[in-house]
Amino acid sequence: MAKKESQNTLLAHSEAKIKLFGQYIQKYLNIIVNDGYTEQIHLYDLFCGPGVYDNNGEGSPIIALRKLKLTYYQFVKDRADGSPKINCNFNDSDPELISRLKENIIEKKLHYNSYGQLNLTSEDYIDIVDRLSVQFKALKKEKAFVFIDPYGYKEVRASHIFDLLNCNKKSEVLLWLPIQFMYRFSENGTPDVLKSFNEQLGIEKENTAIKNVWEYIFELKNGFQTFLGQDYFVDNFTLRKEENTVFCLFFFSSHIRGYEKMLETKWELDTEAGRGWKYNGQIKDLFSGQETNRLEELLLPYLKGEGRTNGMLFEFTLRQGFLPKHLNQILKELQKNEKIELQRKDGSKPRKGAFYINYDAYKSEYDKLSIKLK
Ligand SMILES: C[S@@+](CC[C@H](N)C(=O)[O-])C[C@H]1O[C@@H](n2cnc3c(N)ncnc32)[C@H](O)[C@@H]1O
Repeated sequence: MAKKESQNTLLAHSEAKIKLFGQYIQKYLNIIVNDGYTEQIHLYDLFCGPGVYDNNGEGSPIIALRKLKLTYYQFVKDRADGSPKINCNFNDSDPELISRLKENIIEKKLHYNSYGQLNLTSEDYIDIVDRLSVQFKALKKEKAFVFIDPYGYKEVRASHIFDLLNCNKKSEVLLWLPIQFMYRFSENGTPDVLKSFNEQLGIEKENTAIKNVWEYIFELKNGFQTFLGQDYFVDNFTLRKEENTVFCLFFFSSHIRGYEKMLETKWELDTEAGRGWKYNGQIKDLFSGQETNRLEELLLPYLKGEGRTNGMLFEFTLRQGFLPKHLNQILKELQKNEKIELQRKDGSKPRKGAFYINYDAYKSEYDKLSIKLK
């Protein structure tokens, strides 16, 4: 049987996916190699493909190696202990693709042992995923990053994501899902595998509130968040090439810092695509039909609650998929219009425009300031 076009050539949506993957890996590596703590990084690409397609498009393992190489020469090479080691584990159930990947890596001179280990395997995802979850629990001064990029959704279960993340804030997972197919099935006769996927995430086919693919994505995100619990962070990045093809990358982190970096990458790409952050400081009428600012809409009711501290607001903002700089803009506007009251824990007078919404303050001065809607 002839392979689908997407299996031999890198299509436009895959290109966008790989771009996001590459930008994220780059950011992730730059942070972890400089954290002064981690001695080994383990990258896993569990559905890696051949690395180079017929149209010369480069896939995830080649992109990962290019980013790794940049990071190594920029930061690691001149360190006496050559630390951290960055180990790559590329897997594809098709041995033919793995041998092509090996040739491609050699031909492009993309790996040297000084970077870390390179493991190329040809196993079924289902056989690897449980083993990894156990291995991750034993990680010490190590970090793991897992990319899951199947053609479909049949292999992946929500419990796999949970198990991979459940290792004391040492791992992150990126999952690519062909949403459009899943949504179409959800509408008309859901196959058993998808039914079980939806069921794990608490999504019912009968849920009449799900009117379109975007609402299905929203339900998936919420479903993952509920399934994983509040110790974990979930967001998604959506790509739509044509009306009928929506793909979605979900990212999961057990560490708020890693999650913030992923969100930064997402916003950078969104800005490039012209869908970036727009805020003109006006709370628009909900019923005027005008686009409202989503973060502001969510924030105002939240600020009515008692004792919202800078740390709580940092976490709240990230969980909604926005960045501290977005929140700062809104808070400045609210302060200018005298809509909020600020109180510092030490009783001193709050400084105008200083809201302490950042990771360092979240870690060490979680309740330096509290903010309330007047
Ligand atoms: C969407 S492609 C991966 C594309 C790749 N990430 C890239 O950027 O080029 C999915 C790959 O998964 C492999 N595959 C399919 N079922 C698998 C399984 N159960 N376990 C591991 N790999 C599998 C296929 O051979 C295929 O190369």
